[in-house]
Amino acid sequence: QEDLFKNVVSHAKEYGFIFPSSEIYDGLSAVYDYAQNGVELKKNIREYWWKAMVQMHENIVGLDAAILMHPTTWKASGHVDAFNDPLIDNKDSKKRYRADVLIEDYAEKLNLKAKKEIEKARERFGAAFDEEQYKTTNPRVMEYLAKEREILERMGRSLGAGDLEDVKALIEELEIADPETGSRNWTDVKQFNLMFGTKLGASAENAMDLYLRPETAQGIFVNFLNVQKTGRMKVPFGIAQTGKAFRNEIVARQFIFRMREFEQMEMQFFVKPGEEMKWYEYWKQTRLNWHLSLGLGKENYRFHDHEKLAHYANAAADIEFNFPFGFKELEGIHSRTDFDLKAHEQYSGKKLQYFDNETNSNYVPYVVETSVGLDRMFLAVFATALKEETLEDGSTRTVLRLPSVLAPTKAAVLPLVKKDGLPEVAKKIIDDLKWDFNVAYDEKDAVGRRYRRQDALGTPFCITVDHQTLEDETVTIRHRDSMQQDRVKIAELRAIINNEVSM
Ligand code: GAP
Repeated sequence: QEDLFKNVVSHAKEYGFIFPSSEIYDGLSAVYDYAQNGVELKKNIREYWWKAMVQMHENIVGLDAAILMHPTTWKASGHVDAFNDPLIDNKDSKKRYRADVLIEDYAEKLNLKAKKEIEKARERFGAAFDEEQYKTTNPRVMEYLAKEREILERMGRSLGAGDLEDVKALIEELEIADPETGSRNWTDVKQFNLMFGTKLGASAENAMDLYLRPETAQGIFVNFLNVQKTGRMKVPFGIAQTGKAFRNEIVARQFIFRMREFEQMEMQFFVKPGEEMKWYEYWKQTRLNWHLSLGLGKENYRFHDHEKLAHYANAAADIEFNFPFGFKELEGIHSRTDFDLKAHEQYSGKKLQYFDNETNSNYVPYVVETSVGLDRMFLAVFATALKEETLEDGSTRTVLRLPSVLAPTKAAVLPLVKKDGLPEVAKKIIDDLKWDFNVAYDEKDAVGRRYRRQDALGTPFCITVDHQTLEDETVTIRHRDSMQQDRVKIAELRAIINNEVSM
């Protein structure tokens, strides 16, 4: 699995998907740039989300609020007081860690031990092996899994209650050591606020302290009434937004899974108080279905219902995805009650209420939120799509089996040779297709190598122009996944591609 993850990172760089930020200065930790192919894949994921959320729902509209907001926003939202991670310093190495991550890592190791036992048993028993039964009967596996659960639950309870002494005790009890140095010489667990600060204004005396937004959601809350009134929206209705968010994450690792600057795709759904649980269940299922529609495999998703709730929520669940480093949060669905709107009313002194025509009364709506990280979606799609395949002739190929609808380039047009007028015909095909699709031209190297290159970029189709093309206006079209080649009329290309790549 570790190898798989390393492949993902190097493939992303080698094929122009993701580069470390400011790499010529040795990069900036947990900050990344999306390169020529990455930016297309990311844009397509964003559009796929936008279409499903905004275009397909009459009662959901979009918004693009500013990253900088009035600083009182973050007092009201609770982020100034409660947006913390528990931190622990190592006295010897002077290194700083998130306490909960250290504990989580410990729990994960137990889980790996259990998995190893299970795999050994699977090999022993063969086809008759029943994993579920084994998990509930084998004493060693049961012990590992029970201990893992116990640790995570205990940590959740302590953090929920803000009891950092308990977290510290757990680290001591488990004899957790500094992952880099092995030393156990910790100082106390402290809270660390994750918001990035900045200043507005030129002169030091007049400068105003601002924060870069740690979530896009607050831009929606403060605009709730503006949108509701100007859009004549009736509850239930939603406001959707995609955009950058910033968090001063303490552990920088796992590539684009946990970044300091990242992008969220959030939707706030405003409902009548008392109806929030119905909508919470609705959005949990609807969002899972959206993920499943990409075809990355049902077994790669699971719900994780939260026992420990954020300061704003009365119910919360994650959609977890099976990343190369295990099941981790991909999306959060939160029932946020009227916490945010009420807090903004209180701090601003302005009413943020909905007038219900039917009952002739005002109320502050409840909110169900769906929030997915665009970069995490990228990682989920990219890592799952990347495959090393052994072909029938014994050779291997690297292929990025991206959902076609998300692929950065939909088709590459390749003249078989660089002469006899074939490049000209290929370019004419491109000129025709580029109005509808992102298409690429490639004439360098033997055609087999060009196919491999497009496989590694995730391009669903390769269109090859050869000498027969000059005679009968046909080309071969090669399918990335099956590698099957068909001879088709040039005039049919648009429909064939469209059939597979349209959203
Ligand atoms: N408005 C609610 C909210 O922000 P969250 O669970 O803190 O909730 C939502 O974040 C999603 O944003 C997460 O499920 C994750 O996909 C993404 N996300 C959060 N922190 C991130 C980070 N440091 N790097 C990349 N994605 C992140």
